[in-house]
Amino acid sequence: MTDYLNFNQDRWNRVAKDRKNAYTIPLSHEQLMAAKDKPLEVFLTVGKPVPTDWFDKLVGKKILGLASGGGQQGPLFALKGYDVTIMDYSAEQLASDHMVAEREGLTIKTIQGDMTQPFPFADESFDLVFCPVSNVYIEDLTNMWQESYRVLKKGGLLMVGYMNPWVYLYDGDQVWEQPDSDLFLTYPLPFNARELEKAGKLAISPDYGYEFSHTWEEQIGGQLRAGFAMIDFYESKDNRHRLSTYASDYLANLSIKL
Ligand SMILES: C[S@@+](CC[C@H](N)C(=O)[O-])C[C@H]1O[C@@H](n2cnc3c(N)ncnc32)[C@H](O)[C@@H]1O
Repeated sequence: MTDYLNFNQDRWNRVAKDRKNAYTIPLSHEQLMAAKDKPLEVFLTVGKPVPTDWFDKLVGKKILGLASGGGQQGPLFALKGYDVTIMDYSAEQLASDHMVAEREGLTIKTIQGDMTQPFPFADESFDLVFCPVSNVYIEDLTNMWQESYRVLKKGGLLMVGYMNPWVYLYDGDQVWEQPDSDLFLTYPLPFNARELEKAGKLAISPDYGYEFSHTWEEQIGGQLRAGFAMIDFYESKDNRHRLSTYASDYLANLSIKL
């Protein structure tokens, strides 16, 4: 792995070990029991669950949770009878899936893997690739789209959440930590923390790691070029910060391998 990927992987392991953010807090027994008799409610982004009719379009039950460790989506899918494999590069995030599965008597396969590399699965292994917001941590999306396409069966679905790039026009520390400060257009898009660091324009915090905003060509065009057709789309808002009062900061789409 390149330096920035190692740095981000260490960061996710640390954050997951300390349960430092919402994406690393595994579901409790009570939360899972409450979910048992309700329709499946899972999140690709902050602020809005995946529409239930997206799951009506699923043909089979074999799911790859891509960069989806943390003991959240995996246990919910397993509880609802899906055959679940979670791939994540953070051993600590995967440990949370193991912990919840063991506690609840659920079956979840886990595999440690980097989504910028060939996925360790045969062609046409899955009915669904489910990827909550995580491609903000990788620079080049090409492999992720191509490998998701390869491991899906014909008619298989890709559900993916990602950041709305415009939020990276502003200084993230100011947005989150100085809510009363004036905001200025700061970074041209696409935001690339690795390049900005190289140019001496950004110091990378070990608490947040390297992030990348990506262009629409990379997010949407990349899926289409890999062979997917897009069939649905939604936006959502993280109301914990002020930018979301102006526009949505998260996007999610449903694509199909025809
Ligand atoms: C925001 S969390 C999403 C998962 C979480 N279950 C949730 O709450 O939605 C991002 C996840 O992506 C994983 N990740 C980031 N970059 C990755 C990469 N290159 N390969 C595999 N996993 C990666 C992190 O370890 C982390 O578990």
